[in-house]
Amino acid sequence: MSWADVYPWSIPETGRPVIRQVYDQVRGAIHAGALRPGGRLPSSRDLAVRLGVARASVVAAYDQLLAEGYAQGRTGSGTYVSQDLSGVMDVAAPTPASAAAPPVVPQRAHDMAAVAALAPSLEPQAFSNGRTLMDARAQDAWSVSTRRALRTLGPAHFGYSDPAGEPRLRAAIADYLRAARGVVCEPEQVIVTAGAQHAVDLAARLLLKPGDRVWLEDPGYANTWQALLAAQAQGVAVPVDRAGLIVQAGVAAAPDAKAVFVTPSHQFPLGVAMSMGRRLDLIAWARTAGAWIIEDDYASEFRYAGAPLASLQGLDGGERVIYVGTFNKSLFPGLRLGYLVAPRALTASLSGLRRLADRQPPTLTQAITLDFMESGQFAAHIRRRRLAYKTQRDALAEALRRRLGHVLEPDVPDQGMHLIAYLKDGRSDLEVEARAAAKGVLARAISPLYHDAPPRPGLLMGFTGFPAKAMDAGVARLAAALET
Ligand SMILES: Cc1ncc(COP(=O)(O)O)c(C=O)c1O
Repeated sequence: MSWADVYPWSIPETGRPVIRQVYDQVRGAIHAGALRPGGRLPSSRDLAVRLGVARASVVAAYDQLLAEGYAQGRTGSGTYVSQDLSGVMDVAAPTPASAAAPPVVPQRAHDMAAVAALAPSLEPQAFSNGRTLMDARAQDAWSVSTRRALRTLGPAHFGYSDPAGEPRLRAAIADYLRAARGVVCEPEQVIVTAGAQHAVDLAARLLLKPGDRVWLEDPGYANTWQALLAAQAQGVAVPVDRAGLIVQAGVAAAPDAKAVFVTPSHQFPLGVAMSMGRRLDLIAWARTAGAWIIEDDYASEFRYAGAPLASLQGLDGGERVIYVGTFNKSLFPGLRLGYLVAPRALTASLSGLRRLADRQPPTLTQAITLDFMESGQFAAHIRRRRLAYKTQRDALAEALRRRLGHVLEPDVPDQGMHLIAYLKDGRSDLEVEARAAAKGVLARAISPLYHDAPPRPGLLMGFTGFPAKAMDAGVARLAAALET
């Protein structure tokens, strides 16, 4: 009797590819020592019979084992366990549980696994936040830019390039930010990133040492808090009111903080704009404390009333503000392209850090975006979006007031991509979120975004991702959810 007759081959499970199961069986037998180097594997026909699977599945599994070096074929005489398995076995052999302690997963790994749970819903769904609409004209123009960019690609695009981004795109971004946001900068200060989140992460990793105290808005954007956690800095929750971050509260809590992360154009999540007085107070504090300001201007393009608000970076003159912006909101989130404007003292180091993380921004995406900007399509798209998003915002607010005015109080912002509908009747926003989800509506509770400040229950409702005519149906479903 051979080993193969006594080895406990198991019957394949349902729901897992058969080839994979056969492969695991044979590989397991090798690791368990049941199959020794040089030993002959059962013929594919025998093993197929024993496992009750098609012979082709066994042949495919053997091919995989041959490709990985577990097995060797001898023409005409079958398949054998490789003679030289030492390399494979050293790395891959599972040690008996009793002999080895399991690898210690650091606390930070657990923290970061929790961040993965914050992943957005994959399908656009009323009223998920941060979605955008590319109308037919924008999509056509994007296709034209893509084709044109492809035609211009040359050796410089196919190789490695500047981690800070393509010079012409950096110049176009600098021109745009000077005109639209009053940002004071030269193209060399612009670093192209994968988006606002990437820029925030780079700033946190460059500027902060473990344990450094940092002001964060309370309530605030969860991913910024998590980026600080990843950098092992200590977030200090600074409350927000209708004029934005309460600078004096920050000074009282942590006068010596090393940095502050703020969303002054459209506070996340409350949607308020920081008043000019607070902007000047914040800059004055940062100058005194020697602190950095990270200005997350993620949705600044979408201002629906009143004059555009001056950027903190422009007010400060660009010495201690890292200005962060993104094309992922002005165009579409899947693009993964954004930028930061660094003070001159930090430009080289941020560029170096970016290089270590992922080398450089993708050249093709940069070339397309540059073409889209230079052809005037970007400015035209923003103008059309601004009008459309305003209409969508108004449609959402109107539907909320009409259908749910007795339980919800929408706070309609002059800027941004979402509004907050506060709960009037003392219900838990988490409970409402769960009920809404059961009806296929996404209305995120804002209470988890509060840290030390007492939460005011409300729902965060994005209005940019869906046409105005879809708002009423979404609100009707929310109303049905609230009635159940
Ligand atoms: C406040 C804030 N900052 C940053 C981001 C991330 O933007 P990006 O997609 O460009 O990384 C978002 C996205 O929703 C945001 O709301």
